[in-house]
Amino acid sequence: MKIVTVIGTRPEIIKLSPLMPIFDKEFNHKIVHTGQHYSYCMDRIFFEELNLRKCDYAFNIASSTPASQIGDMMRNIEKVLLVEKPDLVVVQGDTNSTLAGALTASKLQIKIAHIEAGCRSFDRGLPEEINRILVDHCSDVLFTPDLTAFNNLVREGINQDNIHIVGNTSTDACLRAKDLLNWKELDESLEKQSYILVTVHRQKNTSPNNLKNIINSLNIISKKIKIIFPVHLRTREVLDENNIEIEDNLILTDPIGYKDFIGLLVNSKFVMTDSGGVQEEAAILNVPCLILRDNTEWEYLVEIGKNVLLGTDEKKITEHVNYILNNESELENMRNKKVPIKTGVSKAIFYTIKNIYL
Ligand code: UD1
Ligand code: UDP
Repeated sequence: MKIVTVIGTRPEIIKLSPLMPIFDKEFNHKIVHTGQHYSYCMDRIFFEELNLRKCDYAFNIASSTPASQIGDMMRNIEKVLLVEKPDLVVVQGDTNSTLAGALTASKLQIKIAHIEAGCRSFDRGLPEEINRILVDHCSDVLFTPDLTAFNNLVREGINQDNIHIVGNTSTDACLRAKDLLNWKELDESLEKQSYILVTVHRQKNTSPNNLKNIINSLNIISKKIKIIFPVHLRTREVLDENNIEIEDNLILTDPIGYKDFIGLLVNSKFVMTDSGGVQEEAAILNVPCLILRDNTEWEYLVEIGKNVLLGTDEKKITEHVNYILNNESELENMRNKKVPIKTGVSKAIFYTIKNIYL
């Protein structure tokens, strides 16, 4: 059986890192990289530190408007699929690369498997929401992380027989990274729980005004506790172009490697983020997580009180963080909330594909 996996961004590389070696061993497997992420710290670094092999095809598409970006990816992916003629194309998540991979396969009538299907923020203003819905609806095999995602798909009319609840591949990836961590190498000046970790990169949060509001609140909070903020390159551009002022105790770094990031996460007092992947990892590693968004695809974690949906209002962020800094029990309550953790997710995906197609 021949499988083509399409990847393109940091989270896809990370979340598929445990699955790609399994596919290599068990199938005739080709990896296609769309080139959506291309800077060393957003791309290559993860191949190196997660011991991933080189991709079979990698495109050089320039960052541009979404339609040109998706169009360029599709033209390139189509050429590969016409040559390779795979039995199945595998995509993950909700990015433009995910959409380009699935749409191209669909036009060529090649079967599609979608990993992390069914998650919904119910906000159609988000490009990721539209991408994920479209990919779900042209996929033949849908792997969901949980029952909520399964139910979302069933409600949208997708045949239950095609949906498989397997759990979340980021669990495999992040537990593996935690095992690989060399704790001694972690910066010794970073005393455990002495800082807050922050990431911000969503389109909505990186408009100049919205980013200024978020940074204003972080500047205020940083007067009480150190904040470490590895800055996504989209966010970096907006910060630089708008000369946004940063306090000394708000420490901005370049995007960092996965093992370092997981190290910073497990040692932090809590994390504030708009990242989908970081919300999941925080729950898996039992780190309290405040979500800098008005909605989330990981609603279940909010419902059980594991993560808090904080929003992006400057005053609300500052007040809530001040409150929890003065009330350690709030953080302890979040740490005490249990989430079921399914491991072996990548293997479950492999066996399901094998059972269906072989
Ligand atoms: C994309 C995904 C988002 C995901 C994120 C993961 C879409 C619509 N969005 O957003 O869902 O959460 O990846 O990080 O697919 N840039 C670089 N070098 C890089 C990558 C990006 O300089 O390697 C800069 C470029 O200026 C680029 C901008 O960041 O224009 C945005 O990159 P893009 O891939 O379009 O979107 P992300 O914000 O990364
Ligand atoms: N991450 C990383 N280095 C960083 C920031 C994040 O390795 O400096 C990892 C993080 O652990 C998670 C993934 O990148 O696995 C999340 O990617 P991102 O936030 O860019 O995308 P999203 O998950 O929101 O789509």
